Amino acid sequence: MRSLFHKTIGFCLLGFAVVSCQDKEDPNYQYMPDMYESVGYETYGEYEVFEKGQEAKLPVEGSIPRGWMPYDYENNAQGYEAAKTNLSNPLPYTQDNLAEGKSLYTIYCAVCHGDKGDGKGILVEREKILGIPSYDDAGRAITEGSTYHVMYYGINNMGSYAAQTSIKERWQIDHYVMSLKDKLEGKPERAYEEETDEQTQLLPSRADANIYEDAGDVEDEQATENNQTETQE
Ligand code: HEC
Repeated sequence: MRSLFHKTIGFCLLGFAVVSCQDKEDPNYQYMPDMYESVGYETYGEYEVFEKGQEAKLPVEGSIPRGWMPYDYENNAQGYEAAKTNLSNPLPYTQDNLAEGKSLYTIYCAVCHGDKGDGKGILVEREKILGIPSYDDAGRAITEGSTYHVMYYGINNMGSYAAQTSIKERWQIDHYVMSLKDKLEGKPERAYEEETDEQTQLLPSRADANIYEDAGDVEDEQATENNQTETQE
């Protein structure tokens, strides 16, 4: 009995000695290292097989963030002209799109351009800003494409709206701007169109080359988060 008591005490002391000597700075013994050390390369790890020994690589040229869609027209005079002639509104001209466009226009554009699009917004009346054109300005002859382009990049004294609005919202505003232009020019109101499948409508023009062929889920994501990262141009 006594010897068992001593053995127990001795065992405890030994255990204590082993545990207390462990240096907390060093990793402890690993009994099954596979649990800790993965077989694959660690993210941001250093490995000789990679250029400069670095696992992390820049994305392949031409990669784009998920949910972001490239805008193909450059921010210069050629890009403007190209958008003006080639780019058209992918959204159907529905009552909903127009109504949404109107409320966004009232929020973002009307202060300068006026509720009617005649260039007589409240800031103009108060002489806070000058040189706001009317949408029926014949010299400018704006189109769906040029309007989208200036919302995306801005033009002279007008800033970009790429950060505040999503792709869809810009096209909705665009429909409304065009309807104001028609009204200013005394044209008859455009007839509403049928609702169509927006998700395919909003795919970027490069999708024609089928770069998204295998990525079925990309479309779904774009439908929900098509705004966010656009300004990272
Ligand atoms: C701070 C005032 C201001 C706001 C707000 C504003 N704009 Fe403008 N906009 C301007 C000015 C100034 C110009 C003329 C720029 C120039 O060509 O010198 C202009 C020009 C335009 C043109 C004609 C561009 C061309 O092709 O010649 C369009 C179309 C337009 N704006 C649309 C919009 C839309 C749509 C919005 C809202 C999303 C908006 N603007 C918000 C000031 C504003």
